Amino acid sequence: MAVKQVLRMGHPFLQQVSKPVKEFNTPQLHTLIQDMFDTMDAYEGVGLAAPQIGIDLRVVVFGINQNKRYPDADSIPMTVLINPVLRAIGDDATLGWEGCLSVPGLRGEVSRAHQLHYSGFDAQGNRFERQVRDFHARVVQHEVDHLDGILYPSKIQNMNNFGFSEEISELNKL
Ligand code: NI
Repeated sequence: MAVKQVLRMGHPFLQQVSKPVKEFNTPQLHTLIQDMFDTMDAYEGVGLAAPQIGIDLRVVVFGINQNKRYPDADSIPMTVLINPVLRAIGDDATLGWEGCLSVPGLRGEVSRAHQLHYSGFDAQGNRFERQVRDFHARVVQHEVDHLDGILYPSKIQNMNNFGFSEEISELNKL
């Protein structure tokens, strides 16, 4: 069990483009992934990207059974996604509220592709792909943005829909 400190918005590490993983199934990669899940669980997040704990590799983890931060969210299988490739399906975009462990206490409304095809590799180096929608699609887009140095506040179109969750939760479910 190794819970790592999550870097917060403003740290230069969160603004970098991360590097592809070249070697799979290594002890270092397995340790990184375990640390990421431990950290995500400890902070009650639904996803985490490696740069958030100071590692500039294209690795994200996500998944949700039932989460206090997102009580009404659909479940998403616990997933390790390495060197991801995303492709929006169709032109439909949906607005939805997002939070981020690197932007603690805040929520903002962001437009994301409603349907998404994504592919990548698991920790052993096996390629897999999925076609998803709604909250699952949103989480993947949010996490993979971290690998390109993008945090969700830069994608908010209406800054009135950005603020502290405690103020917003009266009006919104997420
Ligand atoms: Ni985030």
